[in-house]
Amino acid sequence: MSTDQLKKEISAIKGTHDILPGEVRLWQIAESRAREIFELYGYRELRAPVIEPTELFEKGTGASSDIVTKEMYTFTDKGGRSITLRPEYTPSVVRAIIEHRLDLQPQPLRYYYIGPMFRYDRPQKGRYRQFHQIDIEVFGEKDPAVDAEIVEMAHRLLARLGVERVMTLVNSVGCKKCRPAYGQELRKAALAVKDRLCPDCQRKAEVNPLRIFDCKNEACREAASGFPLITDFLCPECREHFQKFREYLDLYRLEYRVEPTLVRGLDYYTRTAFEIVAEHLGAQSAICGGGRYDDMVKEFGGPDLCGIGFAMGVERLLSVARIQIPETSFVYFAYLGQEAKKECLRLARALRSEGIESLVEFKDRRMKDHFSRANKLGAEWVLIVGEDELRKGKFQLKDMVNSRQFEGSVLELAAIIKGKKILETT
Ligand code: HAM
Repeated sequence: MSTDQLKKEISAIKGTHDILPGEVRLWQIAESRAREIFELYGYRELRAPVIEPTELFEKGTGASSDIVTKEMYTFTDKGGRSITLRPEYTPSVVRAIIEHRLDLQPQPLRYYYIGPMFRYDRPQKGRYRQFHQIDIEVFGEKDPAVDAEIVEMAHRLLARLGVERVMTLVNSVGCKKCRPAYGQELRKAALAVKDRLCPDCQRKAEVNPLRIFDCKNEACREAASGFPLITDFLCPECREHFQKFREYLDLYRLEYRVEPTLVRGLDYYTRTAFEIVAEHLGAQSAICGGGRYDDMVKEFGGPDLCGIGFAMGVERLLSVARIQIPETSFVYFAYLGQEAKKECLRLARALRSEGIESLVEFKDRRMKDHFSRANKLGAEWVLIVGEDELRKGKFQLKDMVNSRQFEGSVLELAAIIKGKKILETT
Protein backbone atom coordinates (compact mmCIF):
# COMPACT_ATOMS: atom_id res chain seq x y z
CA MET A 1 0.00 0.00 0.00
CA SER A 2 1.43 3.41 -0.94
CA THR A 3 1.79 6.18 1.66
CA ASP A 4 -0.91 8.17 -0.16
CA GLN A 5 -3.32 5.26 -0.02
CA LEU A 6 -2.51 4.75 3.65
CA LYS A 7 -3.17 8.43 4.31
CA LYS A 8 -6.54 8.18 2.64
CA GLU A 9 -7.58 4.93 4.23
CA ILE A 10 -6.18 5.19 7.73
CA SER A 11 -6.15 8.51 9.49
CA ALA A 12 -6.95 9.62 13.02
CA ILE A 13 -10.63 9.36 13.91
CA LYS A 14 -12.58 12.61 13.54
CA GLY A 15 -12.44 14.66 16.71
CA THR A 16 -9.26 12.97 17.97
CA HIS A 17 -5.71 14.17 17.53
CA ASP A 18 -2.08 13.20 17.92
CA ILE A 19 -0.08 15.26 20.33
CA LEU A 20 3.29 15.45 18.65
CA PRO A 21 6.64 15.87 20.44
CA GLY A 22 6.79 19.61 19.64
CA GLU A 23 3.56 20.19 21.56
CA VAL A 24 3.85 17.51 24.18
CA ARG A 25 6.27 19.57 26.30
CA LEU A 26 3.41 21.99 26.97
CA TRP A 27 1.23 19.12 28.12
CA GLN A 28 3.94 17.76 30.37
CA ILE A 29 4.49 21.16 31.98
CA ALA A 30 0.75 21.74 32.50
CA GLU A 31 0.33 18.27 33.96
CA SER A 32 3.30 18.51 36.29
CA ARG A 33 2.23 21.94 37.56
CA ALA A 34 -1.27 20.59 38.19
CA ARG A 35 0.14 17.64 40.15
CA GLU A 36 2.46 19.89 42.11
CA ILE A 37 -0.34 22.27 43.10
CA PHE A 38 -2.90 19.59 43.94
CA GLU A 39 -0.41 17.78 46.16
CA LEU A 40 0.15 21.08 48.03
CA TYR A 41 -3.51 20.91 49.04
CA GLY A 42 -3.31 17.26 50.10
CA TYR A 43 -4.71 15.65 46.95
CA ARG A 44 -3.46 12.25 45.81
CA GLU A 45 -3.77 10.65 42.40
CA LEU A 46 -6.39 7.99 41.78
CA ARG A 47 -6.27 6.21 38.41
CA ALA A 48 -9.42 4.48 37.23
CA PRO A 49 -9.90 2.53 33.97
CA VAL A 50 -10.83 4.17 30.69
CA ILE A 51 -13.64 1.65 30.16
CA GLU A 52 -16.48 1.29 32.63
CA PRO A 53 -19.89 -0.43 32.76
CA THR A 54 -22.39 1.71 30.83
CA GLU A 55 -24.79 1.83 33.81
CA LEU A 56 -22.18 3.77 35.77
CA PHE A 57 -22.73 6.84 33.62
CA GLU A 58 -26.44 6.26 33.04
CA LYS A 59 -26.87 6.35 36.80
CA GLY A 60 -24.12 8.84 37.69
CA THR A 61 -23.91 11.40 34.89
CA GLY A 62 -27.69 11.08 34.54
CA ALA A 63 -30.21 9.67 32.11
CA SER A 64 -31.43 13.08 30.99
CA SER A 65 -27.99 14.60 30.34
CA ASP A 66 -26.83 15.17 26.76
CA ILE A 67 -23.76 13.10 27.54
CA VAL A 68 -25.79 9.97 28.26
CA THR A 69 -28.55 10.49 25.71
CA LYS A 70 -26.33 11.40 22.77
CA GLU A 71 -22.63 11.37 23.38
CA MET A 72 -21.41 8.10 24.81
CA TYR A 73 -19.05 5.72 23.05
CA THR A 74 -20.76 2.49 24.02
CA PHE A 75 -20.15 -1.02 22.73
CA THR A 76 -20.87 -4.60 23.65
CA ASP A 77 -17.75 -6.56 24.52
CA LYS A 78 -17.10 -10.18 23.67
CA GLY A 79 -18.69 -11.23 26.95
CA GLY A 80 -21.93 -9.44 26.03
CA ARG A 81 -21.45 -6.61 28.55
CA SER A 82 -22.27 -3.03 27.67
CA ILE A 83 -19.10 -1.00 28.04
CA THR A 84 -18.60 2.75 27.75
CA LEU A 85 -15.46 4.80 27.18
CA ARG A 86 -15.72 7.23 30.10
CA PRO A 87 -17.20 10.57 29.04
CA GLU A 88 -16.21 12.10 32.40
CA TYR A 89 -14.40 10.99 35.50
CA THR A 90 -16.60 11.73 38.51
CA PRO A 91 -18.71 8.52 38.48
CA SER A 92 -15.53 6.42 38.17
CA VAL A 93 -14.14 7.89 41.39
CA VAL A 94 -17.44 7.26 43.15
CA ARG A 95 -17.38 3.64 41.99
CA ALA A 96 -13.77 3.24 43.17
CA ILE A 97 -14.61 4.66 46.61
CA ILE A 98 -17.44 2.22 47.11
CA GLU A 99 -15.53 -0.72 45.66
CA HIS A 100 -12.43 -0.20 47.79
CA ARG A 101 -14.20 1.17 50.89
CA LEU A 102 -12.08 4.31 50.67
CA ASP A 103 -14.74 5.96 52.83
CA LEU A 104 -13.19 4.15 55.81
CA GLN A 105 -10.10 6.34 55.48
CA PRO A 106 -9.85 9.71 57.26
CA GLN A 107 -12.04 12.29 55.52
CA PRO A 108 -12.15 14.45 53.56
CA LEU A 109 -10.79 12.26 50.77
CA ARG A 110 -9.01 14.30 48.12
CA TYR A 111 -8.20 12.83 44.72
CA TYR A 112 -6.98 14.04 41.37
CA TYR A 113 -6.52 12.54 37.94
CA ILE A 114 -5.36 13.59 34.49
CA GLY A 115 -6.40 11.62 31.43
CA PRO A 116 -8.52 11.22 28.30
CA MET A 117 -12.33 11.36 28.17
CA PHE A 118 -14.59 10.51 25.23
CA ARG A 119 -17.75 12.20 23.99
CA TYR A 120 -19.40 11.70 20.62
CA ASP A 121 -20.22 15.34 20.00
CA ARG A 122 -19.93 17.44 16.86
CA PRO A 123 -16.22 18.30 16.71
CA GLN A 124 -15.26 21.96 16.44
CA LYS A 125 -12.58 24.21 17.86
CA GLY A 126 -12.36 23.46 21.59
CA ARG A 127 -14.67 20.46 21.35
CA TYR A 128 -13.26 17.04 20.58
CA ARG A 129 -14.30 13.43 20.74
CA GLN A 130 -11.25 12.40 22.65
CA PHE A 131 -10.20 15.21 24.94
CA HIS A 132 -8.35 15.39 28.23
CA GLN A 133 -9.38 16.48 31.66
CA ILE A 134 -7.54 17.49 34.79
CA ASP A 135 -10.00 16.38 37.44
CA ILE A 136 -10.15 16.75 41.22
CA GLU A 137 -12.74 15.38 43.65
CA VAL A 138 -13.26 15.77 47.42
CA PHE A 139 -15.47 13.51 49.53
CA GLY A 140 -16.85 13.84 53.04
CA GLU A 141 -16.66 17.60 53.50
CA LYS A 142 -19.92 19.52 53.84
CA ASP A 143 -18.37 22.84 54.81
CA PRO A 144 -18.75 25.45 52.02
CA ALA A 145 -15.15 26.44 52.80
CA VAL A 146 -14.08 23.48 50.66
CA ASP A 147 -16.26 24.69 47.77
CA ALA A 148 -14.30 27.95 47.82
CA GLU A 149 -10.98 26.20 48.39
CA ILE A 150 -11.30 24.18 45.19
CA VAL A 151 -12.17 27.31 43.21
CA GLU A 152 -9.11 29.01 44.71
CA MET A 153 -7.00 25.97 43.82
CA ALA A 154 -8.27 26.06 40.22
CA HIS A 155 -7.28 29.72 40.02
CA ARG A 156 -3.84 28.99 41.42
CA LEU A 157 -3.30 26.48 38.63
CA LEU A 158 -4.61 28.88 35.98
CA ALA A 159 -2.26 31.59 37.24
CA ARG A 160 0.66 29.13 37.23
CA LEU A 161 -0.13 28.39 33.58
CA GLY A 162 -0.29 32.04 32.65
CA VAL A 163 -4.03 31.99 31.93
CA GLU A 164 -5.50 35.47 32.13
CA ARG A 165 -8.85 37.12 31.46
CA VAL A 166 -11.05 34.48 33.06
CA MET A 167 -14.33 34.85 34.91
CA THR A 168 -15.78 32.55 37.55
CA LEU A 169 -19.51 31.95 37.32
CA VAL A 170 -21.21 30.55 40.41
CA ASN A 171 -24.67 29.33 41.26
CA SER A 172 -26.57 27.07 43.61
CA VAL A 173 -28.79 24.46 42.00
CA GLY A 174 -30.48 23.60 45.31
CA CYS A 175 -31.01 20.15 46.75
CA LYS A 176 -33.54 17.31 46.74
CA LYS A 177 -35.66 19.31 49.17
CA CYS A 178 -35.97 22.57 47.26
CA ARG A 179 -35.44 21.61 43.62
CA PRO A 180 -38.74 19.73 43.04
CA ALA A 181 -40.83 22.86 43.74
CA TYR A 182 -38.60 24.84 41.42
CA GLY A 183 -38.78 22.07 38.79
CA GLN A 184 -42.57 22.28 38.81
CA GLU A 185 -42.60 26.04 38.33
CA LEU A 186 -39.97 25.77 35.65
CA ARG A 187 -41.89 23.08 33.78
CA LYS A 188 -45.02 25.24 33.86
CA ALA A 189 -43.07 28.18 32.45
CA ALA A 190 -41.40 26.02 29.80
CA LEU A 191 -44.64 24.40 28.67
CA ALA A 192 -46.25 27.83 28.37
CA VAL A 193 -43.67 28.79 25.70
CA LYS A 194 -43.23 25.30 24.27
CA ASP A 195 -43.93 26.32 20.67
CA ARG A 196 -41.03 28.80 20.80
CA LEU A 197 -38.54 26.09 21.79
CA CYS A 198 -36.43 23.86 19.54
CA PRO A 199 -37.58 20.19 19.28
CA ASP A 200 -34.86 19.12 21.72
CA CYS A 201 -35.95 21.68 24.32
CA GLN A 202 -39.62 20.75 23.80
CA ARG A 203 -38.64 17.27 24.94
CA LYS A 204 -36.56 18.73 27.79
CA ALA A 205 -39.59 20.79 28.91
CA GLU A 206 -41.32 17.49 29.71
CA VAL A 207 -38.37 15.48 31.07
CA ASN A 208 -35.97 17.93 32.69
CA PRO A 209 -36.68 21.62 32.01
CA LEU A 210 -33.47 22.63 33.82
CA ARG A 211 -31.55 21.42 30.76
CA ILE A 212 -33.20 24.14 28.60
CA PHE A 213 -30.76 26.62 30.15
CA ASP A 214 -27.91 24.70 28.48
CA CYS A 215 -29.33 25.17 24.96
CA LYS A 216 -27.26 27.42 22.72
CA ASN A 217 -30.18 28.12 20.37
CA GLU A 218 -30.97 31.86 20.37
CA ALA A 219 -34.78 31.41 20.35
CA CYS A 220 -34.59 29.01 23.31
CA ARG A 221 -32.31 31.38 25.20
CA GLU A 222 -34.75 34.18 24.66
CA ALA A 223 -37.71 32.07 25.76
CA ALA A 224 -35.74 30.95 28.83
CA SER A 225 -34.89 34.51 29.85
CA GLY A 226 -38.33 34.84 31.44
CA PHE A 227 -38.17 31.54 33.36
CA PRO A 228 -38.17 31.49 37.17
CA LEU A 229 -34.72 31.25 38.74
CA ILE A 230 -33.51 28.59 41.17
CA THR A 231 -31.97 31.22 43.44
CA ASP A 232 -35.51 32.33 44.38
CA PHE A 233 -36.46 28.80 45.43
CA LEU A 234 -33.53 27.72 47.59
CA CYS A 235 -34.35 26.22 51.00
CA PRO A 236 -32.78 27.97 54.03
CA GLU A 237 -29.92 25.40 54.21
CA CYS A 238 -29.02 25.77 50.53
CA ARG A 239 -29.32 29.54 50.78
CA GLU A 240 -26.95 29.60 53.75
CA HIS A 241 -24.50 27.27 52.02
CA PHE A 242 -24.45 29.51 48.95
CA GLN A 243 -24.03 32.62 51.08
CA LYS A 244 -21.08 31.12 52.99
CA PHE A 245 -19.47 29.82 49.79
CA ARG A 246 -19.47 33.36 48.46
CA GLU A 247 -18.11 34.75 51.73
CA TYR A 248 -15.15 32.35 51.45
CA LEU A 249 -14.59 33.37 47.83
CA ASP A 250 -14.50 36.97 49.05
CA LEU A 251 -12.00 35.98 51.70
CA TYR A 252 -9.70 34.74 48.93
CA ARG A 253 -10.45 37.95 47.01
CA LEU A 254 -11.61 35.91 44.04
CA GLU A 255 -13.73 37.71 41.54
CA TYR A 256 -16.93 35.93 40.52
CA ARG A 257 -20.35 36.51 39.05
CA VAL A 258 -23.55 34.88 40.28
CA GLU A 259 -25.19 33.29 37.24
CA PRO A 260 -28.63 31.97 38.25
CA THR A 261 -29.06 30.10 34.95
CA LEU A 262 -25.83 28.15 35.35
CA VAL A 263 -27.14 24.61 35.84
CA ARG A 264 -24.34 22.59 34.18
CA GLY A 265 -24.97 19.77 31.76
CA LEU A 266 -24.80 16.88 34.21
CA ASP A 267 -27.65 15.65 36.36
CA TYR A 268 -25.93 15.06 39.67
CA TYR A 269 -25.21 18.52 41.02
CA THR A 270 -26.59 19.74 44.34
CA ARG A 271 -26.03 23.22 45.74
CA THR A 272 -22.75 24.68 44.40
CA ALA A 273 -22.20 24.76 40.64
CA PHE A 274 -19.48 26.80 38.98
CA GLU A 275 -17.60 27.36 35.79
CA ILE A 276 -14.46 29.27 34.93
CA VAL A 277 -14.75 30.76 31.48
CA ALA A 278 -12.30 32.47 29.16
CA GLU A 279 -14.91 34.62 27.48
CA HIS A 280 -12.65 35.48 24.54
CA LEU A 281 -12.67 31.78 23.53
CA GLY A 282 -16.16 32.15 22.09
CA ALA A 283 -18.64 29.26 22.05
CA GLN A 284 -16.44 26.74 23.88
CA SER A 285 -15.36 29.13 26.59
CA ALA A 286 -15.62 26.93 29.70
CA ILE A 287 -12.16 25.84 30.69
CA CYS A 288 -13.25 24.47 34.05
CA GLY A 289 -16.57 23.19 35.35
CA GLY A 290 -17.58 21.65 38.62
CA GLY A 291 -19.82 21.54 41.63
CA ARG A 292 -21.18 19.59 44.54
CA TYR A 293 -22.88 16.21 44.26
CA ASP A 294 -23.94 15.27 47.76
CA ASP A 295 -26.22 12.37 46.81
CA MET A 296 -24.26 10.39 44.23
CA VAL A 297 -22.32 8.05 46.53
CA LYS A 298 -25.49 7.14 48.43
CA GLU A 299 -27.49 6.69 45.25
CA PHE A 300 -24.88 4.18 44.10
CA GLY A 301 -25.56 2.14 47.25
CA GLY A 302 -22.52 3.51 49.11
CA PRO A 303 -22.32 5.41 52.40
CA ASP A 304 -23.80 8.87 52.88
CA LEU A 305 -20.76 10.73 51.63
CA CYS A 306 -21.02 14.15 50.06
CA GLY A 307 -18.77 15.08 47.13
CA ILE A 308 -17.51 18.09 45.22
CA GLY A 309 -15.03 18.52 42.39
CA PHE A 310 -14.15 20.09 39.09
CA ALA A 311 -12.62 19.20 35.75
CA MET A 312 -10.58 21.35 33.41
CA GLY A 313 -10.37 20.65 29.70
CA VAL A 314 -6.66 20.44 28.92
CA GLU A 315 -7.01 21.35 25.22
CA ARG A 316 -8.98 24.48 26.08
CA LEU A 317 -6.62 25.28 28.93
CA LEU A 318 -3.58 25.10 26.67
CA SER A 319 -5.25 27.25 24.05
CA VAL A 320 -5.21 30.14 26.56
CA ALA A 321 -2.14 29.22 28.63
CA ARG A 322 1.13 31.09 28.34
CA ILE A 323 3.87 28.63 29.17
CA GLN A 324 7.54 29.23 28.65
CA ILE A 325 9.18 26.03 27.44
CA PRO A 326 12.71 25.75 28.84
CA GLU A 327 15.40 25.38 26.16
CA THR A 328 16.68 21.84 25.85
CA SER A 329 20.38 21.39 26.10
CA PHE A 330 22.30 18.36 24.88
CA VAL A 331 25.77 17.20 23.97
CA TYR A 332 26.53 16.07 20.44
CA PHE A 333 29.54 13.77 20.02
CA ALA A 334 31.89 14.53 17.14
CA TYR A 335 34.37 11.74 16.56
CA LEU A 336 36.73 10.40 13.96
CA GLY A 337 37.23 6.67 13.49
CA GLN A 338 36.00 3.46 15.09
CA GLU A 339 38.05 3.72 18.30
CA ALA A 340 36.83 7.26 18.92
CA LYS A 341 33.26 6.16 18.25
CA LYS A 342 33.54 3.48 20.94
CA GLU A 343 35.01 6.01 23.35
CA CYS A 344 32.06 8.31 22.65
CA LEU A 345 29.61 5.54 23.46
CA ARG A 346 31.35 5.14 26.84
CA LEU A 347 31.51 8.89 27.45
CA ALA A 348 27.85 9.37 26.58
CA ARG A 349 26.98 6.73 29.14
CA ALA A 350 29.00 8.56 31.78
CA LEU A 351 27.39 11.92 30.94
CA ARG A 352 23.88 10.47 31.04
CA SER A 353 24.68 9.13 34.51
CA GLU A 354 25.39 12.77 35.41
CA GLY A 355 21.93 13.70 34.11
CA ILE A 356 23.19 15.23 30.85
CA GLU A 357 21.35 14.53 27.59
CA SER A 358 23.83 13.00 25.14
CA LEU A 359 23.55 12.09 21.49
CA VAL A 360 25.97 9.83 19.66
CA GLU A 361 25.13 9.35 16.01
CA PHE A 362 26.37 6.13 14.54
CA LYS A 363 27.14 7.32 11.03
CA ASP A 364 30.77 8.05 10.13
CA ARG A 365 31.30 11.74 9.28
CA ARG A 366 34.06 14.19 8.66
CA MET A 367 34.64 16.63 11.54
CA LYS A 368 33.17 19.50 9.49
CA ASP A 369 30.03 17.47 8.80
CA HIS A 370 29.70 16.60 12.48
CA PHE A 371 29.58 20.31 13.27
CA SER A 372 27.00 21.17 10.67
CA ARG A 373 24.90 18.23 11.87
CA ALA A 374 25.23 19.42 15.51
CA ASN A 375 24.12 22.89 14.41
CA LYS A 376 21.16 21.54 12.52
CA LEU A 377 20.00 19.53 15.52
CA GLY A 378 20.45 22.53 17.82
CA ALA A 379 23.12 21.03 20.09
CA GLU A 380 24.31 23.37 22.81
CA TRP A 381 27.54 21.42 23.27
CA VAL A 382 29.83 19.40 21.03
CA LEU A 383 32.26 16.97 22.60
CA ILE A 384 35.16 16.27 20.28
CA VAL A 385 37.01 12.97 20.28
CA GLY A 386 39.86 12.57 17.80
CA GLU A 387 43.12 10.65 17.98
CA ASP A 388 44.79 13.19 20.26
CA GLU A 389 41.94 13.20 22.72
CA LEU A 390 41.85 9.43 22.75
CA ARG A 391 45.51 9.28 23.63
CA LYS A 392 45.37 11.93 26.37
CA GLY A 393 42.04 10.89 27.89
CA LYS A 394 41.12 14.62 27.80
CA PHE A 395 38.45 15.86 25.50
CA GLN A 396 37.49 19.10 23.83
CA LEU A 397 34.09 20.55 24.68
CA LYS A 398 32.73 23.32 22.51
CA ASP A 399 30.01 25.62 23.79
CA MET A 400 28.06 26.22 20.56
CA VAL A 401 26.13 29.17 21.96
CA ASN A 402 29.03 31.22 23.31
CA SER A 403 31.78 29.82 21.04
CA ARG A 404 33.98 28.91 23.99
CA GLN A 405 36.07 25.76 24.17
CA PHE A 406 37.19 23.72 27.19
CA GLU A 407 39.49 20.77 27.68
CA GLY A 408 39.17 18.19 30.41
CA SER A 409 38.28 14.70 31.58
CA VAL A 410 34.69 13.59 31.19
CA LEU A 411 33.88 14.47 34.79
CA GLU A 412 35.47 17.90 34.51
CA LEU A 413 33.46 18.59 31.38
CA ALA A 414 30.28 17.30 33.02
CA ALA A 415 30.86 19.81 35.83
CA ILE A 416 31.18 22.65 33.28
CA ILE A 417 27.94 21.64 31.54
CA LYS A 418 26.07 21.31 34.81
CA GLY A 419 27.54 24.55 36.14
CA LYS A 420 26.21 26.47 33.14
CA LYS A 421 22.83 24.82 33.51
CA ILE A 422 22.65 25.92 37.13
CA LEU A 423 23.75 29.45 36.21
CA GLU A 424 21.04 29.64 33.56
CA THR A 425 18.25 28.40 35.79
CA THR A 426 19.07 30.64 38.76
P1 HAM B 1 -17.92 19.14 32.18
O1 HAM B 1 -18.38 20.55 32.30
O2 HAM B 1 -18.73 18.22 31.37
O3 HAM B 1 -17.79 18.59 33.67
O4 HAM B 1 -16.44 19.12 31.63
C1 HAM B 1 -15.40 19.84 32.27
C2 HAM B 1 -14.52 20.53 31.25
O5 HAM B 1 -14.03 19.60 30.29
C3 HAM B 1 -15.23 21.59 30.40
O6 HAM B 1 -15.30 22.81 31.09
C4 HAM B 1 -14.31 21.68 29.19
O7 HAM B 1 -13.20 22.50 29.50
C5 HAM B 1 -13.84 20.25 29.05
N1 HAM B 1 -14.62 19.55 27.99
C6 HAM B 1 -15.82 18.96 28.10
N2 HAM B 1 -16.20 18.41 26.94
C7 HAM B 1 -15.20 18.64 26.06
C8 HAM B 1 -14.98 18.31 24.68
N3 HAM B 1 -15.87 17.61 23.97
N4 HAM B 1 -13.82 18.73 24.11
C9 HAM B 1 -12.91 19.43 24.81
N5 HAM B 1 -13.06 19.76 26.11
C10 HAM B 1 -14.18 19.38 26.73
C11 HAM B 1 -17.38 17.33 33.97
O8 HAM B 1 -16.88 16.54 33.19
C12 HAM B 1 -17.53 16.99 35.44
N6 HAM B 1 -17.09 15.60 35.65
C13 HAM B 1 -16.73 17.97 36.30
C14 HAM B 1 -16.84 17.67 37.76
C15 HAM B 1 -15.93 17.03 38.50
N7 HAM B 1 -17.88 17.96 38.51
C16 HAM B 1 -17.65 17.51 39.75
N8 HAM B 1 -16.49 16.92 39.73
